Amino acid sequence: MVLFTVSRKETAPIDGQKPGTSGLRKKVTVFKQPSYLHNFVQATFNALSPSKVRGATIVVSGDGRYFSKEAIQIIIKMAAANGVRRVWVGQNGLLSTPAGSKASGGFILTASHNPGGPHEDFGIKYNMENGGPAPEGITDKIYANTTTIKEYFIAEDLPDADISTIGVTSFEGPEGSFDVDIFDSTDEYVKLMNYDALHGVAGIYAKRIFVEDLGANEGSLLNCTPKEDFGGGHPDPNLTYAKELVVRMGLGKTTLEGEPPEFGAAADGDADRNMILGKRFFVTPSDSVAIIAANAVQSIPYFSSGLKGVARSMPTSAALDVVAKNLNLKFFEVPTGWKFFGNLMDAGVCSVCGEESFGTGSDHIREKDGIWAVLAWLSILAFRNKDNLGGDKLVTVEDIVKEHWATYGRHYYTRYDYENVDAGAAKELMAYLVKLQASLPDVNKIIKGIRTDVSDVVQADEFEYKDPVDGSISKHQGIRYLFGDGSRLIFRLSGTGSEGATIRLYIEQYEKDSSKTGRDSQEALAPLVEVALKLSKMQEFTGRSAPTVIT
Ligand code: G6P
Ligand code: ZN
Repeated sequence: MVLFTVSRKETAPIDGQKPGTSGLRKKVTVFKQPSYLHNFVQATFNALSPSKVRGATIVVSGDGRYFSKEAIQIIIKMAAANGVRRVWVGQNGLLSTPAGSKASGGFILTASHNPGGPHEDFGIKYNMENGGPAPEGITDKIYANTTTIKEYFIAEDLPDADISTIGVTSFEGPEGSFDVDIFDSTDEYVKLMNYDALHGVAGIYAKRIFVEDLGANEGSLLNCTPKEDFGGGHPDPNLTYAKELVVRMGLGKTTLEGEPPEFGAAADGDADRNMILGKRFFVTPSDSVAIIAANAVQSIPYFSSGLKGVARSMPTSAALDVVAKNLNLKFFEVPTGWKFFGNLMDAGVCSVCGEESFGTGSDHIREKDGIWAVLAWLSILAFRNKDNLGGDKLVTVEDIVKEHWATYGRHYYTRYDYENVDAGAAKELMAYLVKLQASLPDVNKIIKGIRTDVSDVVQADEFEYKDPVDGSISKHQGIRYLFGDGSRLIFRLSGTGSEGATIRLYIEQYEKDSSKTGRDSQEALAPLVEVALKLSKMQEFTGRSAPTVIT
């Protein structure tokens, strides 16, 4: 048995360690500063109740991005020194965020959909014993600890773990044994589909599930070998960044020979986000969760006894609301951030939830789950085609979405992102919009001066959420302008960027008339877009004449 000792190291607070929407995300160069990661990890251990640390089992893994390997070794040594009994590490440090949610607590090393590499992003977040991201109560405590930290503990003489080889290694420290358990990350998840993993961790799951278990052709997988820098790409599954898949599905500017496949999907770096595509057809994430909810009971055995309720984040379109109303389901609107769904699921009032930011999931775990979303869609397609095994009357993704619009109406939806805007300018724009809300007649006067073909604003506010389970209150969660015809304009600052500020503008319009649900979405939304840009003085405040990304 190898023995180790515990060293106490003096340290001092480092600025800027406040976790955002989903953990702490910064440039690798920031994380490599002496003591930077150490401070954050110790601040996290100190924020947890001692029983969650001493004698506990935790997971440490992630999407395999650059700097993960070093970070894993540091965290293992700090866990040993802080009295943790056992650390589980996915082989090669790989574990998707949803698979990590099956563990009862641990560090997930990812910056999700942000690029990776020596000059790109690294990230770390702590998930709690319910498998979900730490709630604000804990992340606030972690942050407070980082501002007063004086010391951290590390087992410097613990040998580096060989994370490429499956197996358990035991060590003996001052407080007893400490085990490092390297496990096969896909095995654990599988106990529970054309696919673009964008070189993220989804690749290892996709091979196992879609090819080995479901018999798909290996040629249907794109970019399924994880890379530290995601092949230089931006591992975010949307129409801008999943270019290769978009072209294959017949949605790109260039076209390939032959017919595109009927179904396509992509995941982000840590495999919790998803994008669903049909042949020459894009399913918005807001529609996706609504359609899954509307079809779940018939198509997905896990839900056959009914849905306990459904939930969406505030900026996500109201397509899910209409389904909830029609099917008489409990419905919740929460702030942006998956952590807000966890309490609802633990309380047994939410089965399916989703966000406009390409996140969809269910109460099988406490994270969004890209592969689950794909399996949910495949189940719906299989159910709708069960009497059609010959394939002559194939019900396609497009058919399913269009039928949905015919039944429930369509929520035209788009999001404009202004990335890396000067932080001060972004704050000023938000402050301006808050002030503007004070008088609705003034707002409507300005809007009528811009366009006469949009309806009146009937309510404007800053979204505030009171968690129905624990009563906690989250303020300043985005500015809403709600129109008489159900249209909405929402302005928010992103909480996941690693530099400057990102302004997100969400634009939505409800169309009940089924003869008008087939329009091009950018065209249908043009009047509201014009109103949003002029009302907010976007160009004046930011100097930007166009968004960085439109989704
Ligand atoms: C992460 C979170 C999501 C959130 C998304 C967008 O993926 O897990 O819950 O919707 O970030 O966050 P942002 O603050 O950048 O809009
Ligand atoms: Zn992610």
